Amino acid sequence: MAEPLLEMSGIEKHFPGVQALVDCHFDLFPGEVHALVGENGAGKSTLMKILDGVYERDSGVIKLKGSEVDIPNTATAQRLGISMIHQELNLMPHLTVAQNIFIGREPQGRLPFVLDERALNENAAALFEKLRLHLDPRKRVSALTVAQQQMVEIAKALSFNASVLIMDEPTAALTDKEIDELFRITRQLRGEGVGIVHISHRLQELKQISDRVTVMRDGHVINTVATADATVEQIISMMVGRTIFEAAPEVPEVTNPEVVLEVRNLNRGRAIRDVSFSVHRGEIVGIAGLVGAGRTEVARAVFGADPIDSGEILIHGKKVKISGPIDAVHHGIGYLSEDRKRYGLALGLNVETNVVMASLQRFVGRLGIVRSGLTRVAAERQVQNLAIKTPSLSQRVRNLSGGTQQKVVVAKWLTADTEILFFDEPTRGIDVGAKSEIYQLLNALAHEGKAIVMISSDLPEILRMSHRIIVMCEGRVTGELTAAEANQEKIMTFATQREAAA
Ligand SMILES: Nc1ncnc2c1ncn2[C@@H]1O[C@H](COP(=O)(O)OP(=O)(O)OP(=O)(O)O)[C@@H](O)[C@H]1O
Ligand SMILES: [Mg+2]
Repeated sequence: MAEPLLEMSGIEKHFPGVQALVDCHFDLFPGEVHALVGENGAGKSTLMKILDGVYERDSGVIKLKGSEVDIPNTATAQRLGISMIHQELNLMPHLTVAQNIFIGREPQGRLPFVLDERALNENAAALFEKLRLHLDPRKRVSALTVAQQQMVEIAKALSFNASVLIMDEPTAALTDKEIDELFRITRQLRGEGVGIVHISHRLQELKQISDRVTVMRDGHVINTVATADATVEQIISMMVGRTIFEAAPEVPEVTNPEVVLEVRNLNRGRAIRDVSFSVHRGEIVGIAGLVGAGRTEVARAVFGADPIDSGEILIHGKKVKISGPIDAVHHGIGYLSEDRKRYGLALGLNVETNVVMASLQRFVGRLGIVRSGLTRVAAERQVQNLAIKTPSLSQRVRNLSGGTQQKVVVAKWLTADTEILFFDEPTRGIDVGAKSEIYQLLNALAHEGKAIVMISSDLPEILRMSHRIIVMCEGRVTGELTAAEANQEKIMTFATQREAAA
């Protein structure tokens, strides 16, 4: 075999209260896609952040093309040809695509301190051409889809002439078609000799894209195998250290005739166009559609996070006015955002505070003081229920792994006494074990009589969980299916049902 491009051995990393990595070994060959998998909090991101210079290792050796290197910061990583695309994308939304790619190293114009905007755009265009991407370098990043933003991150990584490219859950937010495009680029880079690390919870895709798989569990590297030699089931059992069986699809129950939430003729610019739907007591309504179909916009509008142009919201048949999230919570509506960083969590605060945040009034004693004994008990219970992996309730949420943060958002809305719950991509970035926990939880909540709306881009998930499925395309509801009649083809047909061009 060729010489490894990269070799990490004996890597250890400790955080206060957490031994994140224990004696880890990882290597990567040129022209290889090496998948890295493991449950939430296993240490995947931490191991790769050490390579990218975000964290310094406590001990261990890193060799690049045979010689030992030290990577104290990301600038060094870049110089060594190591680039990482992080789990949460890191672009500046108000800057253009080209400005984001060359931030900090813009070509200077002829006058000092004046940017050569044209050179910048030409350089970016050249990069896109190499990747056969159709992106406008002058477009603002805020106007791009998540998939396009990811492409910008890849182009940026490659602009440093990376020979090692690390992608931390690149497919989590992408549709199938976008994943195909990402894999096309991944294969192209592999063909050019780049070594690629691919972190993912979507185990089915490993077979499609990776040459080898490394499995991590609780800070240890459990095994590295050639992808062709292992089944997905074997990989899962290495991940969880036990065999979990995927529960048979839940049989949808007969729903209660009582309508809890009704949305009538909702409009907001071009994002939401005349959307109407209702949710019954004890029902899970799935909203399917491609990324950008307007599903999150609908949830945000009902939750009062965005103003609406027109439309009515009725709760138990009564018209309500929701002018902001506080009104929504007051009316018993909870919203689990897809973007936990921006809307779901106070990252600088601890686990306990985040869990009780949306329901503080329940924990206030007679003197108006929050009774910390009660909040602790409530938070403790959720940590147990959802198996939230944290060293203590006082850990700051920022320090938890990506998937664990998502569980904290779920815990927060479960603690708040909400009757209507919007779950926006509830299992994105969540490992297999926790996923089935969240499914059980959704079923239990429906069983208790809550009205649930679940937005998901994962079709098997929508099909498995929903009693009824609403499909959206370009801001409109294009179809509605009962659980019995729904299948992937029917959903996709509605999801791509564009308005006939005028
Ligand atoms: N900056 C930090 N401070 C304290 N603890 C941390 C920090 N970063 C990570 N950890 C802890 O280290 C462990 C490994 O986390 P890591 O983010 O590497 O997990 P992961 O495998 O990437 O999980 P996920 O699939 O959820 O993204 C977790 O217990 C996490 O809480
Ligand atoms: Mg991670």
